[in-house]
Amino acid sequence: MEHVDTLILGAGAAGLFCAGSILELAKRPEKPRVLVIDHARAPGEKIRISGGGRCNFTNLATGRDRFLSQNPRFCASALAGYPASEFVAMVDRHGIAWHEKTLGQLFCDDSARQIIDMLLNRMRGAQLWLETAINAVEPRDGGYLVATSRGPVHARNVVVATGGKSIPKMGATGFGYDLARQFGLRLIEPRAALVPLTFAEQDLDLCRPLAGVSVEAEVSHVEGRSATRFRDGLLFTHRGLSGPAILQISSFWKPGDDILVDLAPGRNTAEELKTQRGQGGRIAVGTALARILPARLADAITTELRLDGARLADQPNPRIESLSQRVHRWRLRPVGSEGWRTAEVTLGGVDCRDLDARDMQARSQPGLYFIGEVVDVTGWLGGYNFQWAWASAHAAAKGI
Ligand code: FDA
Repeated sequence: MEHVDTLILGAGAAGLFCAGSILELAKRPEKPRVLVIDHARAPGEKIRISGGGRCNFTNLATGRDRFLSQNPRFCASALAGYPASEFVAMVDRHGIAWHEKTLGQLFCDDSARQIIDMLLNRMRGAQLWLETAINAVEPRDGGYLVATSRGPVHARNVVVATGGKSIPKMGATGFGYDLARQFGLRLIEPRAALVPLTFAEQDLDLCRPLAGVSVEAEVSHVEGRSATRFRDGLLFTHRGLSGPAILQISSFWKPGDDILVDLAPGRNTAEELKTQRGQGGRIAVGTALARILPARLADAITTELRLDGARLADQPNPRIESLSQRVHRWRLRPVGSEGWRTAEVTLGGVDCRDLDARDMQARSQPGLYFIGEVVDVTGWLGGYNFQWAWASAHAAAKGI
């Protein structure tokens, strides 16, 4: 039987960071015994593929307003206890070059692999068991007995860092949720988020031929009196719509809701077309619209409105206005999302009401901690999810 002080389940972003933080924060002369277990072949697989291989490792604009949760205040204390600037300072200390891409999003100049190496370096002194299955977790002798494929482990503390359900091909499971349920913690139903949306045939008639076309758009979701809007790239795909603006809105969208798309935010299509019409207007409507939108998209919209081949000069104001409405207020009802297969994160998870916001410990189960994506705290796109992984892991390490 292996005896450790802290057993961390999951060698992803949160688990690796937590192991390093426990060792770093330990004041005793002898270092605590820390073991990290994962069933995957390699640690930090999602870090490796994140940010197109360059890992968007944090966001300078991190604040609790960038996270979705049934308990929006819960994440505030952990985020304040480990701000983005601390992680950036660590990246600097390790000599990893980075750049700000947009809106406070920080990426490695070279490779996400550097972040994994930094995390592994930082947790030297801890053990890492890969390709190890976790079969059962039971309370035992003031701690926990964990049955694994490498034999039993007894630990005073168990930290659950097994992530969400997105991308099962990369090792994601619902393990953390099952464990939470086993110990009587409540769950907020997990749902795929930051995920492309899919559409019914009539909308696909437009999207499919445009697959590969991208445009800067503003996508909105209205719920009651509040509207959520994201202005970013939108990408047409064979299955529907993707791109950052759609991924962002997917976290807010629920089945049965509409989304509203402005394909030319900040422009006044009606006025621009009327001006072009006043300047001669012999050009085709599609050609005029292609001065505002990508040509293939302009073509598709004019065809849909049966204006292909029509001259701008022949269009009365009401028709120009309805064309403009089509550009700025395209209302669609997604039928679903691409689901766990491509979702970047999981919305929902372990109910924050059952965790202590200061250290992520289960209120009813001393010594049992939940950190990272398994908790019902989900960031927007842009480095916020890693910042939550670091901050929640740090909070738990401080508590341990
Ligand atoms: P994470 O998923 O990282 O780790 C969980 C670990 O637990 C895995 O190693 C898994 O193998 C292991 N595990 C699961 N079940 C187990 C079981 N039953 N037994 C043993 N081990 C088990 N975020 C961001 O901020 N910036 C970005 O650039 C990106 N980019 C990005 C791209 C893609 C394609 C994806 C899918 C996701 C992102 N993300 C992101 C999100 C980010 O990757 C995610 O939020 C964090 O990795 C969550 O960290 P965790 O440690 O909580 O889970």
